[in-house]
Amino acid sequence: MMLEKIVKNLGILKQEFTKIYDGHSHIQEIIPSSSSESFPIPDVHLEFLHTFAEKNPIYYNSYEQKIAGTLCKVYEGDINEYWLNSIKHGSSCQPFYPTWIFSAYITVLFAKNSNYKELIDIGSGDGRIAFCAKVLNLESISVEIDDVLVNLQNHILTNTKINFNPICADAIDFDYSSLNLSSPIFFIGGLPQMGGDVLATSVIEKISKTNLKKNACIVFAGTHSKRQFATSVAEGGWSTLIGKHGLKVIKTIELPTIWTFDQLSDTPYIYTRFT
Ligand SMILES: C[S@@+](CC[C@H](N)C(=O)[O-])C[C@H]1O[C@@H](n2cnc3c(N)ncnc32)[C@H](O)[C@@H]1O
Repeated sequence: MMLEKIVKNLGILKQEFTKIYDGHSHIQEIIPSSSSESFPIPDVHLEFLHTFAEKNPIYYNSYEQKIAGTLCKVYEGDINEYWLNSIKHGSSCQPFYPTWIFSAYITVLFAKNSNYKELIDIGSGDGRIAFCAKVLNLESISVEIDDVLVNLQNHILTNTKINFNPICADAIDFDYSSLNLSSPIFFIGGLPQMGGDVLATSVIEKISKTNLKKNACIVFAGTHSKRQFATSVAEGGWSTLIGKHGLKVIKTIELPTIWTFDQLSDTPYIYTRFT
């Protein structure tokens, strides 16, 4: 219940931020400054999220602002250089576009509350989801194909002292059984029909051949945008793949991401299990 409340409050906060933001940066996001009734998150965890942003060179400016009654820090940045780099790989399925840091924390909080033990971020970008997993005391593995982004992750690791296990690898070839997983939750870092489906299919096919199938959860980032995708937007655009592999949706939470900044609806994170 607490999670639902936080998700709802974050949706309101994001809409208000979109309305009042008057800067011109390429990307922008917010993190509450401290624990509050609307966002009852431990201050130590919030501090880690702020440190992640402060030590991350994609952000070049920050300032405090009260938004919808909550004091927040606004982070402004630019990912163009990383974005361009992430598309140069032959088997890159999806260019770098990050989830909001605070959204990453909330989506991992659900994994934590559901008692998953290991989080594997497939296509992890700057590693924010894996970072949040480590902050929440999960085993964390961060798989990213682009060496420049993995260097960025290692830079953040060194400067935050949070080791979220960056691995530079093609997620399609990666041997997940080598990780000795027991209750894993896999986050698929890509949207459907933009390459995310290629990433998801390869991971699902690998897991479904192993015992991990019983305990594993797969999380998809969906889209509500009908303009971009001609086919169904049911299950955030993932319904075909979910049906094909006999997955069952156990939860959907909608959270702000960099790419939904100026949209009315945010990104659905869809939690599924094998049936
Ligand atoms: C949309 S970003 C998501 C980043 C992160 N998961 C997040 O939510 O902030 C997708 C990332 O997947 C990476 N990627 C694409 N194809 C990949 C592959 N085959 N193996 C590993 N990573 C891949 C890209 O380089 C990019 O950083």
